[in-house]
Amino acid sequence: MNQVIEFVKADVKKEKPAVESLGFGKHFTDYMFVMDYNEEEGWHQPRITPYAPLVLEPAAMVFHYSQSVFEGLKAYRAKDGRVLLFRPEKNVARMNVSCARLSIPQIDETIVLDAIKQLVELEKDWIPDGEGTSLYIRPFIIATEPSLGVHPAHEYKFMIILSPVGSYYGDQLKPVRIYVEDEYVRAVPGGVGFTKTGGNYAASLKAQEKAEELGYDQVLWLDGVERKYIEEVGSMNIFFKINGEVVTPKLNGSILGGVTRDSVIELLKYWNVPVKETKISIDEIYNAYKNGQLEEVFGTGTAAVISPVGELGWKDVAMQLPHAEAPDSIANRLYDALTGIQLGKTEDPLNWTVEI
Ligand code: COI
Repeated sequence: MNQVIEFVKADVKKEKPAVESLGFGKHFTDYMFVMDYNEEEGWHQPRITPYAPLVLEPAAMVFHYSQSVFEGLKAYRAKDGRVLLFRPEKNVARMNVSCARLSIPQIDETIVLDAIKQLVELEKDWIPDGEGTSLYIRPFIIATEPSLGVHPAHEYKFMIILSPVGSYYGDQLKPVRIYVEDEYVRAVPGGVGFTKTGGNYAASLKAQEKAEELGYDQVLWLDGVERKYIEEVGSMNIFFKINGEVVTPKLNGSILGGVTRDSVIELLKYWNVPVKETKISIDEIYNAYKNGQLEEVFGTGTAAVISPVGELGWKDVAMQLPHAEAPDSIANRLYDALTGIQLGKTEDPLNWTVEI
């Protein structure tokens, strides 16, 4: 369906950044999508307007009580010129799951998908053409009602912005070093850990700083009650290959259900590689490491794609994982398969890509 989206033309077009200077989330395209919510009209006035600063009341509730949700997905340019999205319906459905937990009104998923497609179509010249690059799509909702009372807002803004990106960690192939955090926690049962809401990321910053001071790239979170079971990494889900079997923490309400996580599980099943979602303790991982059974560790995420882990630091132990760089690693095989599908280079056996 094609909804009627008002269009406001940009007077000036920005210069596009060179592929080498992309980084992650530093450059934004010429246009953005905006739609507002109030109780009388519901979600209304969908529009594509020039990318520009917002005017919001200082009392807008998002500034005070953080009522907000976001998503992250990517558009890819295939060699034959097609523009492809990867399982966009999953992100849109997950946004409504986040909205439900944050008491934000549900949004029509068909309208959001259509808005993503129309905005990306308009901005397709911004999709970079270089190894490991894509156009990152960031839909988000913020509470805009000016009010200092703590209650669900009555007014919101839904927006989509686009950013041409390279790899999240600088060098996609360089294994990352991850630190197991056992002082701070990210989420607790009954909380908002399974949602994409800014507060989860704000709460992670202190531990991220600590990990960086210790020379690591990211934090691996343990559960918030016993500080024993593995949950997820700062910006990705985590997988372990132990004795030939791939395992990942089972979704439990405090872990984000990543679209790449789900895709990896589905691909492994499709390949008949043993894969299990289960509760995994850090002690089990350490024991597997000591016994020489911990073959690989890798993270998955839209931004991170498949990120091999070269070192897992836990207390005073540094678990070295040399197989991270091996060309025949499962992480490399998954990276090639996933990016092959996303870029339309290989067949798409599970019908994941959506052409714009
Ligand atoms: C993504 O992978 O899209 C994310 O949302 C992670 C982000 C916090 C960088």
